Amino acid sequence: MDTVKVFAPASVANVGPGYDTFGFAIEKLGDIITVTKREDQLLRILPTIGAELPTDPIKNVAGVAILALLKALGTTPGFDIQIEKMFRPGSGLGSSASSAAGAVFAVNELLGRPFSLHQLLSFALKGEALASKCYHADNVAPSLLGGFQAVRSYHPLDLFNIPHLDDLFVLIIFPSIQIKTVVAKGLLPKKLSIEDAREQWGNVAALIHALHTKDYQLLSKAITDRIAEPVRRTLIPEYQTVKKIAGENGSVGFNISGSGPSMFALFTDEDNAQDCSKAIKLIYDAISMPVMFSISKINSKGCQVI
Ligand code: HSE
Repeated sequence: MDTVKVFAPASVANVGPGYDTFGFAIEKLGDIITVTKREDQLLRILPTIGAELPTDPIKNVAGVAILALLKALGTTPGFDIQIEKMFRPGSGLGSSASSAAGAVFAVNELLGRPFSLHQLLSFALKGEALASKCYHADNVAPSLLGGFQAVRSYHPLDLFNIPHLDDLFVLIIFPSIQIKTVVAKGLLPKKLSIEDAREQWGNVAALIHALHTKDYQLLSKAITDRIAEPVRRTLIPEYQTVKKIAGENGSVGFNISGSGPSMFALFTDEDNAQDCSKAIKLIYDAISMPVMFSISKINSKGCQVI
């Protein structure tokens, strides 16, 4: 095998109260990454299809992730890397994580799987850190592993998966503006009050319980964020109106996807998600802002060879 093509799903990070802690993968959006072995030892990043991204491997998230893998491997086989984006960077859907996760997954396949998924995660995190200037696994982990991933600890990195979320539909609402994660991270408060922290802990606990017991009334209350949402929502046009419409259409959880501008709304009925997207479209039409929608299930597989 000299070439492998991989689908690396997009992801929704934070999921309300779980800043840098919770993230789930989605089915219909992601990167398609094709990796081809070279005769020489060159690592070549081809111009990305669907976005303008650096082709210098040390300035490209996929390149940095692959270089971390090759360092651990101890040899330097050469590869051509072609990334195709189904959504653009700066959308809040874990674009850099999809590229980093998909690239190391594909290279590992071509090499005959010398590394475990956990090792691939640490390489992909190095790529992700290039884009957001810090280590956060809440996009990389779901993109690589699929499902709803929760980071229990960063030192050492320890994650768990919340299973059986097949009955939820995810509506992604993507107004056409760009927010860089590094900028959105800079807005966050450096200190938290004990009152905000205890509300957040309560919602984190409630969210996990609600997902396990399928208590969607509790879920809609638990997807609340006292830390990132209050400062970041100001960057997203019509945020409060969109949130209200999601609630009126039966959403069982709404918030900013990652660092925005995308938003997510969870539904148990796909028709409600469709109706919700139509109502939200009118809001953005009224301010002449293009908006994109995607409705899909939670992706339970993560990176896959296609
Ligand atoms: N947890 C990260 C943040 C996700 O909110 O900054 C970035 O997409």
